[in-house]
Amino acid sequence: MKVAQRGDSVMKQDQPGQPVTRNEDANHELSIRVNDLNLWYGDFHALKSIDMDLYQKNVTALIGPSGCGKSTFLRCLNRMNDLIPSVRVKGLIEMDGRDVYEPKMDEVALRRRVGMVFQKPNPFPKSIYDNIVYAPKMHDLVSRKADQDELVERALRDAGLWEEVKDKLHQPGTSLSGGQQQRLCIARAIAVQPDVILMDEPTSALDPISTATIEDLMDKLKQQYTIITVTHNMQQAARVADYTAFFHLGEVIEYNDTKTMFSTPHTKKAEDYITGRYG
Ligand SMILES: Nc1ncnc2c1ncn2[C@@H]1O[C@H](COP(=O)(O)OP(=O)(O)O)[C@@H](O)[C@H]1O
Ligand SMILES: [Mg+2]
Repeated sequence: MKVAQRGDSVMKQDQPGQPVTRNEDANHELSIRVNDLNLWYGDFHALKSIDMDLYQKNVTALIGPSGCGKSTFLRCLNRMNDLIPSVRVKGLIEMDGRDVYEPKMDEVALRRRVGMVFQKPNPFPKSIYDNIVYAPKMHDLVSRKADQDELVERALRDAGLWEEVKDKLHQPGTSLSGGQQQRLCIARAIAVQPDVILMDEPTSALDPISTATIEDLMDKLKQQYTIITVTHNMQQAARVADYTAFFHLGEVIEYNDTKTMFSTPHTKKAEDYITGRYG
């Protein structure tokens, strides 16, 4: 495993106000390195030369106006865009020294390592229990009933849901409240022991209390997982993220540690967005 060190990566800031696309000060273990990533939907150039180092066991928030490419970028990291026929991708996404887009990459195995939680909680139309064991069974991670029971309990405990559902594991996942369903989806994502969890506006469909619960959970989960989350909520980014990337029209304008991003952003565009002068 590579350690990203000072000077290891190019700091693309020639003059103040120019894009800042890597963290030269970060001294965390590298999880994913993105180099000159470009994506087109047909003729539309949706991601433009993105450089970003994503760090293990940290929360990285992606912020920026609607339509700037945050979800598209997130979906590149586990090749979910491959499912869209018009998509063309160029550039490098490296995980553990391997290009995620190399032809030999096993996409199913990749998506086990890089899990995803969506904006709208989307439990399978199955019981709470089966929502958790479905993927581990498919990946042959568990077969014995006792191991499955243990895995279900562990995943639900880690997702902070166990106490609320332990007496109704065989009820449908969809019978839970929205906030509980989202934690069930998080439990389902961690049940296959991923390295990275992608979250696309995971709380934007939730009430403030469920949102706070998920934010607390992200803070705990980052001890074990690399979390990359999209949020429209600036306060949320400031609260949960160690690093924040500001996207604008398919480019990363500024990528910085969250404290710097929200106190002394290096670019005018990021500053305007953060201070609400830009929609
Ligand atoms: N499946 C698709 N086909 C064509 N264009 C798309 C598709 N998905 C997204 N786009 C376009 O790509 C741009 C980035 O979209 P998206 O990644 O969803 O932005 P964000 O998540 O930041 O709101 C937008 O202009 C959007 O219209
Ligand atoms: Mg989006």
